[in-house]
Amino acid sequence: MVNVAIAGGTGGVGRTILEVLQATSQHQAFVLSRQASQHLPNTITMNYDDTDRIADILERKNIHTTKRFVPSGYAIPYPQRALEFLPQLNDYFEAIYELRRSGLEWTVFHNGIFLDYFGTPALTSYLKPNVFVIDMEHKVAAIPGDGNTPVTFTYTFDLARFIVASLDLEKWDEESRVIGDEKTFNEFVALAEEARGSKFQVFYDDVEKLQRSEITELPGHKALYKQIPKESFQWFTSIFERFTADGTSHIARAGSLNERFPDIKPLSVKNMLDRYWKNA
Ligand SMILES: NC(=O)c1ccc[n+]([C@@H]2O[C@H](COP(=O)([O-])OP(=O)(O)OC[C@H]3O[C@@H](n4cnc5c(N)ncnc54)[C@H](OP(=O)(O)O)[C@@H]3O)[C@@H](O)[C@H]2O)c1
Repeated sequence: MVNVAIAGGTGGVGRTILEVLQATSQHQAFVLSRQASQHLPNTITMNYDDTDRIADILERKNIHTTKRFVPSGYAIPYPQRALEFLPQLNDYFEAIYELRRSGLEWTVFHNGIFLDYFGTPALTSYLKPNVFVIDMEHKVAAIPGDGNTPVTFTYTFDLARFIVASLDLEKWDEESRVIGDEKTFNEFVALAEEARGSKFQVFYDDVEKLQRSEITELPGHKALYKQIPKESFQWFTSIFERFTADGTSHIARAGSLNERFPDIKPLSVKNMLDRYWKNA
């Protein structure tokens, strides 16, 4: 048994990892949070600027983080050139750089796009709501590129099951790949139409349009502008849509954790659609 600290265990992905860890393993979970919490047990309040105190707390609680570390990622293998248009990635690349120098054992998880965005609200998810490419509720899609590039889709709870399983691996590779399912957006829309029993209205946004930070507005986007202004939303989403059109969001299956843990059967796109959208 090891003690695992989940920094940001109050958030979307973190809370999912916490729940799966508590339900399926012998390992002891602690949550690191900038705020004190009454409802989450074992929460340690953190000031991330105070590194001496962090080290002291982690050592006193005998947290395995002092030997093994997983930086926040849970997405795609960001190319270094992405820094030119997504400077926020600087912290991510810095973290990887520091980990390489640290002597810690570490791994970063790559899982593609979260399947949750296409199954909520019926599908349980702690992610903040988002409408990405396919607006399931309103039966409209705005597909990046020609829609024929495969994309990896993974449900957060399946990702968490692979993460928890990998705690028992003797050795971690620098990259841990998790594949829920692989579909092109054209295939995804065809399955969605089948599940919903009618045709979707489908638009195509070519790469030039995405490079101008523009995407076709879907009906479900409007509700999101309360959290993030339209212009910022379009800019951010167009970048991630480009990562689907150019194949960056297709995670290599060879050597993935799926091969090491064949008993974990992730939710497929079709099963999700049939379960949560047929007769919806
Ligand atoms: N592949 C995909 O489709 C996809 C989609 C969404 C997210 N992701 C990735 O998944 C990861 C987690 O995303 P999420 O949506 O779960 O995140 P989130 O809910 O926004 O945040 C997670 C937690 O991080 C902590 N936090 C936030 N800012 C912080 C800061 N500056 N310093 C220290 N702690 C901070 C907060 O905890 P406290 O307030 O309790 O400290 C927060 O609850 C990210 O790397 C994100 O890029 C991937």
